[in-house]
Amino acid sequence: MPTLISIDQIADYEGQEVTVRGWVYDRTDKGRLQFIKLRDGTGIVQCVAFKKEMDPEAFEVAGKLTQESSVVITGTVRKDERAPGYPGGYEIGAKTLDLVQMAEEYPITPKDHGVEFLMDNRHLWVRSNRQWAILRIRATIVNAMRNWLDDHGYLLVDTPIITPAAGEETTTLFQIDYFGEPAYLAQTGQLYNEANMGAFGKVYCFGPTFRAEKSKTRRHLMEFWMLEPEMAFFSLEDLMDMEQEFVSHVVQRVLEKHRLELEIIERDTSKLENVLSPFPRISYDDAVARLQKLADETEDPEQKALLQMDWGGDFGSPHETAIAEMFERPVFVYHYPTAVKAFYMQPVDGRPEVCRSVDLLAPEGYGEITGGSERIFDRDLLEARVAKIGLQREAYAWYLDLRRFGSVPHAGFGIGLERTVSWMCGLPHIRETIPYARMLSRNYP
Ligand code: 4AD
Ligand code: MG
Repeated sequence: MPTLISIDQIADYEGQEVTVRGWVYDRTDKGRLQFIKLRDGTGIVQCVAFKKEMDPEAFEVAGKLTQESSVVITGTVRKDERAPGYPGGYEIGAKTLDLVQMAEEYPITPKDHGVEFLMDNRHLWVRSNRQWAILRIRATIVNAMRNWLDDHGYLLVDTPIITPAAGEETTTLFQIDYFGEPAYLAQTGQLYNEANMGAFGKVYCFGPTFRAEKSKTRRHLMEFWMLEPEMAFFSLEDLMDMEQEFVSHVVQRVLEKHRLELEIIERDTSKLENVLSPFPRISYDDAVARLQKLADETEDPEQKALLQMDWGGDFGSPHETAIAEMFERPVFVYHYPTAVKAFYMQPVDGRPEVCRSVDLLAPEGYGEITGGSERIFDRDLLEARVAKIGLQREAYAWYLDLRRFGSVPHAGFGIGLERTVSWMCGLPHIRETIPYARMLSRNYP
């Protein structure tokens, strides 16, 4: 009896008879020999159909197989160093072949297609090698993040997606109709995380978040996944200590597990190997000074203008790239101006124009991948903030309550999954980091 296996197990079955099930990735016709590259989601294996070794009907089907036709093939596993595929090095000498469905003409062929065409066919594009590699790495990143937290005493506590009030900027809310009342899709789980922190100490949430950002960039999605840890009694320094361990763990895990996938997407892994704790830390003040110096030294007028930076503004992507290029590892920038950050961030003692915030900037131009801060824990100050920026107090009453019943200093951050995948995979655009991207001009498929 042949054993039903997945292609990634093939090395364990040399000389044995196995059954594999999947889709035809490619076929080369050599008359009496058909080389079928079969894909099953775990890998690709070459199945060799030889006329003399098969029943005539099955061999005839083999010779007609179209790209992406679904089949079940049984045969003997042979070692062959040159055999293509993933993991490669083995092929199957086919004995029987059962057709499940003969695929119609497949729109995605090995030739080059435009990005819009591929995005229109995303439901099929996800089958391609490159997408396969990226989405497998994405899954490992999620797994590594969650494992690290679970192993370090953090509890996963879910936060709602439908919310009555803004968590971040009120300008990027997706509004929905909640039985006649306005409600919003969550921009962040943070405020609820802060409540959960009071119950469990160290918590995290992980889920989709939504921002109606009218920006068409290679870094913005309307729907993205964010993982957010929140910790009681954590200072900004504790936060950075923890973040660098967490992020470097995730990078090293991807390197350990995904050599093959990183090779498929042609990622220069030497850059990732450098991502070890500790990470450099610079203040916003220092970052601005460095940018000003760099702008002064830059001759090209266009580049000079891009780098121009006055104290008080938020960094644009050229600034983030320039700062990150000054370091080999991701770099923390802390103490941003209070005015450019969210309402809940703790001001710096004696210098309220800056706040206890920290962003982590990834190398190679990938920019901000995490944003976090110490939170205001003084009730009066938080009340004043809510009033000042015109938030509806009733909607935040529960959040303000947290500062009445055992309020403690605390801190947390959010890491954008897709930005992280983009960086770790070295991708030119965020659209390939998520199975079905939601962008300014795309909500299909
Ligand atoms: O800096 P942000 O807005 O921080 C928060 O939402 C905090 N409440 C998190 C916290 O402290 N718990 O977003 C955090 C991260 C960013 O650093 C970025 O990686 C990602 O979320 N992000 C986006 N990713 C893709 N598309 C967008 N439109 C994004 N906006 C933010
Ligand atoms: Mg941010």
